[in-house]
Amino acid sequence: MIRSTIESSGSYLPERIVTNDELALKIDTSDEWIVQRSGIRQRHVAADGEFTSHLATRAADRALARAGMAAADIDLIVLATATPDQTFPATATKVQANLGMTRGAAFDVQAVCSGFVYALSVADSMIKCGMAGTALVIGAETFSRILDWNDRGTCVLFGDGAGAVVLKAAQGNGTSADRGILAHTLHSDGRHHDLLYVDGGPSTTGTAGFLRMQGREVFKHAVANLASVVAETMGQAGLGPENLDWLIPHQANQRIIDATGRKLGLSADKVVGTVDRHANTSAASLPLALDAAVSDGRIRRDQLLLLEAMGGGLTWGASLVRW
Ligand code: UT7
Repeated sequence: MIRSTIESSGSYLPERIVTNDELALKIDTSDEWIVQRSGIRQRHVAADGEFTSHLATRAADRALARAGMAAADIDLIVLATATPDQTFPATATKVQANLGMTRGAAFDVQAVCSGFVYALSVADSMIKCGMAGTALVIGAETFSRILDWNDRGTCVLFGDGAGAVVLKAAQGNGTSADRGILAHTLHSDGRHHDLLYVDGGPSTTGTAGFLRMQGREVFKHAVANLASVVAETMGQAGLGPENLDWLIPHQANQRIIDATGRKLGLSADKVVGTVDRHANTSAASLPLALDAAVSDGRIRRDQLLLLEAMGGGLTWGASLVRW
């Protein structure tokens, strides 16, 4: 059977780092509150004129270089973002042009913080049904542009960044010992749309709008949904959480990450964390965390990884991968 193997990863973070203390100079907050409630110590913020497509292109370039591949080798780009450069065309097409890729297909996927898992699932499905032999899957965001910098309940939580992976079609035996993507689970429940949304858009206000969140409610849903989607996804492959080498959780809040790990019975040293350095980068959070653990040598060939995320919609999902 055809599997999609993940050949490589790459990531990019804007140069500018904003610490909690710097935010506390402008709004009524403190490093102590932010660290205690979220685990976040700093975030990266894109420079003026630095767009989601720029971050995405840099991450994609790095992933391609690591895979020893050129843009011309890629059949498909699926880019997950909730902060596109423009309403249309898809930011993925800008990345395609930036990379010098003149064939294939490129489009965006919108599932907010779950976007990378959704994009990975779409690209994997297209590879499995023979529509593409290779794909770039990217998560890229400039959430700093949709934050209300006077709302201390949200502006301290998010950051900018991008991560990418290169997928390639490979033959597998159809067992959980195969390298590549073994299973996906995607969920959404639109009844909770108002818990996390942007109060603007082309069809409503005609403005880009700002992020609004009922943090405590989102927190409750996250803790309940994430552990169950991990177990559900592992079950599809006939495995349990005890088989995991690494849990790569969406980096929204250290308390959510810890609670999910505890529910699954995983020790903290099996859980990848970057929320302290990156804050919540929405669709970029998973490929950024994955790339951090690949780059520092923690993730090794043939290890079993589970990526999970939850975000606005509400949406949530997970992907099981043998690296
Ligand atoms: O990626 C998508 C998924 N998103 C998430 O997973 C986010 C989920 N939610 C969370 O991470 C947490 O709910 C937050 C970190 C957003 C908030 O933590 P919390 O423990 O739920 O705090 P809270 O919202 O209940 O606020 C507690 C207090 C409030 O004051 P009062 O009403 O108790 O006097 C807030 O006004 O903390 C106050 N507060 C702040 N204080 C200092 C809220 N934001 C801040 C702040 N600095 N930045």
